[in-house]
Amino acid sequence: MQMFRQLVCGNFYSPDLMKSNRNSEDPSSNRKGGTPFWEKMKPKAPRRPTSRESQSSTGKPVPTRENQQERGWDQVAQWYDQLVGDEGSDYHKNVIMPALLKRLQPLSGASVIDVCCGQGFVGKLLKQAGASRVHGVDASPQLIASAQKRNAGETNLSYEVADACQPGAWANGSYDAALCIMAVHDVPDLTGLFQNIARSLTDRGRALLVFMHPCFRMPQHSHWGWDAEQKIQYRRMDRYGTEKTIAITTHPGRKSSEQTKFYHRPLPSYVQSLSAAGLAITGCDELFSHRRSQVGPRSKAEHLAAEEFPLFLLWELRKCPSLQ
Ligand SMILES: C[S@@+](CC[C@H](N)C(=O)[O-])C[C@H]1O[C@@H](n2cnc3c(N)ncnc32)[C@H](O)[C@@H]1O
Repeated sequence: MQMFRQLVCGNFYSPDLMKSNRNSEDPSSNRKGGTPFWEKMKPKAPRRPTSRESQSSTGKPVPTRENQQERGWDQVAQWYDQLVGDEGSDYHKNVIMPALLKRLQPLSGASVIDVCCGQGFVGKLLKQAGASRVHGVDASPQLIASAQKRNAGETNLSYEVADACQPGAWANGSYDAALCIMAVHDVPDLTGLFQNIARSLTDRGRALLVFMHPCFRMPQHSHWGWDAEQKIQYRRMDRYGTEKTIAITTHPGRKSSEQTKFYHRPLPSYVQSLSAAGLAITGCDELFSHRRSQVGPRSKAEHLAAEEFPLFLLWELRKCPSLQ
């Protein structure tokens, strides 16, 4: 179970791990045996399914690498919906939403588009914080169905299945703010995504992105380490500067398992795609974990590491006519 949860979304949404400080994204994780297994996993090369693998004995299609990739987050929709719930995951609640709400002020009366909204927990929170209207778009029909079910009866809160990288009616220049939370690394066409975010905004509108900090977090290629001589908890990056698509297998031991893709990109790739979409970075926050390890011989070093190495990057973006 832990394996399943750890692998999705680079470990950040693991409910099992959220109960404990000892996970790969907390500095204390190194105490118990070093690198967690999900970071050691090597992406496996896609393999063509045989005809027997593509059809079960009942004639129904069974999951293959290819059709899993087409289904994207639909495969893990049920799990993700339960994990995030009505208020967001542990990191949403304690790290991401407080930073976003601070940046979004003044929110009163604003219309907001939540791009790659998942199961849509953000909408109600924004309405409670003063937004007049929130619309969410996501490529997963199952997550959108969850969003609609969870928010049934809410006024001025709507959801739509849409590929955020493709032009759509939602990208209509009417929104004061656009959010894209923990999703830019799940999207293959970054420029397409940013162009649509720009199109969705009024001329004075702002977009806020929150995503895994690419300088410190890369599934399977970043780890905590312990320098026993200097008693320092350090962050180790084995890769950074090259774009890389990483298959995140949810049940590594199984013949057939859900897979989503994580797109690692170094900072210049983001900036180039933003410029191509006519968006400029006008604000930046680095968001740190709120978790702390248990008291022990390394806890001082672990706390320092938690305060020094951010989990997420938050960018505020504005349309920049000279870039368009
Ligand atoms: C980690 S989840 C984050 C969801 C939500 N923003 C949250 O914070 O709970 C990533 C989301 O991106 C969505 N996504 C991935 N590619 C997409 C695309 N091309 N268009 C729209 N949504 C996409 C997935 O369906 C999934 O819901």
